Amino acid sequence: MWKAIILIGGPDKGTRFRPLSLDIPKPLFPVAGLPMVQHHIEACCQVPEIKEILLIGFFPLSDELKNFLAYAKKAFTPSIRYLQEYTSLGTGGGLYHFRDQISAGSPSAFLVFNVDVCCNFPLQDILHFHSSKTADDGITIVATEATHQESMSYGCLVEDKKTGEATHYVEKPETFVSSLINCGVYVFSQKVLQYMENVFKEHQSERFDGGDNGSDSSFTERISLEKDILYPYAGSGKMFVYKTKEVWGQIKSAASAIHANKLYLSLYHKTNPGRLAVGGDKQTPTIIGDVFIHKNAEVHSTAVIGPNVTIDERVVIGPGVRVSNSIVLPGAVLKDHSCVLNSIIGWESTVGQWSRVEGTAHQPDPNTQFSKIVSGGLFNEDGRLCPSITVLGRQVTVAPEIVVLNSIVLPNKAIQSSSKNLIIL
Ligand code: GTP
Repeated sequence: MWKAIILIGGPDKGTRFRPLSLDIPKPLFPVAGLPMVQHHIEACCQVPEIKEILLIGFFPLSDELKNFLAYAKKAFTPSIRYLQEYTSLGTGGGLYHFRDQISAGSPSAFLVFNVDVCCNFPLQDILHFHSSKTADDGITIVATEATHQESMSYGCLVEDKKTGEATHYVEKPETFVSSLINCGVYVFSQKVLQYMENVFKEHQSERFDGGDNGSDSSFTERISLEKDILYPYAGSGKMFVYKTKEVWGQIKSAASAIHANKLYLSLYHKTNPGRLAVGGDKQTPTIIGDVFIHKNAEVHSTAVIGPNVTIDERVVIGPGVRVSNSIVLPGAVLKDHSCVLNSIIGWESTVGQWSRVEGTAHQPDPNTQFSKIVSGGLFNEDGRLCPSITVLGRQVTVAPEIVVLNSIVLPNKAIQSSSKNLIIL
């Protein structure tokens, strides 16, 4: 029996995902028509040995989260539970805090995912690798190759090529260490929880040695998976690298959601072809490449959609509309002959007739899966807004015959004139 744990973070996480994370907990943001976290859950459902999925985070139980959990509990076979941290306990603290729930039923090992990574999760293969390589106190870490420069924004691993052992781990090094990076997907054997207990005790003694009277227990319980666990584990003979050449990305900025959308849509060919829209008759719009259209969306037959487009529920798309490389969120309206390229259109937003909402697509490095934009910030070194996708927050209205280019528009704005490279507050 295996378990899976998805680290979903909390409300003060996902700041680079604003304004979209102002409206919805980031793990529930829809990518390729599904909440981000559902892609992880569906991957776990492909592995019959995974009997329980625990979501660990510090989001309050909002209606959205409750609704999603209620849906997931009904829709999927493994038991699904949300374990809420009383405060942010870091990437490892929740694992220690909820160790009893994790160990219940004595799973052979447990998978751990960061919620904001996207890949095709070859879980069965990863679990076999783990069983064959590690003992009952081992860790498997999934890794991929990045470019020299990109690698420094991630956890970097040095591997013994003969044995596959991770001999060194550094989180976001200041100088180049290795182009092999941590994908945010791990397998932990049970005894890693015991190791965490040692970390906890060390934190406790550091706290008391520092004269703390013990009032802030979260300080002791806050554990960084990367610094407190992976770093000391590297070189101990107990941590092994599972290298993947599959597509992989992170969803940090809004722009990276477009990249993830493309990636997940392309994976549907293998995992769920029925989710991809097909055109080809007079009643349906023209479909180019990979497109997801929710069954409750209304798309005019003269619209041209794709590639890499998600049209979510209750969206209305008028005649002659063109959409490519974009996510159109629930309830948005794209009026006649409008054009949306490389953009995210927020919930219940409206793009007026003949208007154009456009962002800049960034091409991934041809040698790796990486697109600069995946980890890129909003501003460059001179403090200028980087050319990026355009994002309209919730309930934004773009008047007819307007161009909105490379701009971020906060919720509830009415755009009456054209804009370029602006953040509209
Ligand atoms: P940044 O580039 O600084 O965002 O670092 P990162 O890419 O390593 O991400 P980060 O360490 O912030 O988060 C990694 C994963 O852990 C994400 O899935 C987060 O949602 C999750 N996470 C981060 N902090 C916490 C926490 O305090 N509790 C829980 N349960 N999850 C967390």
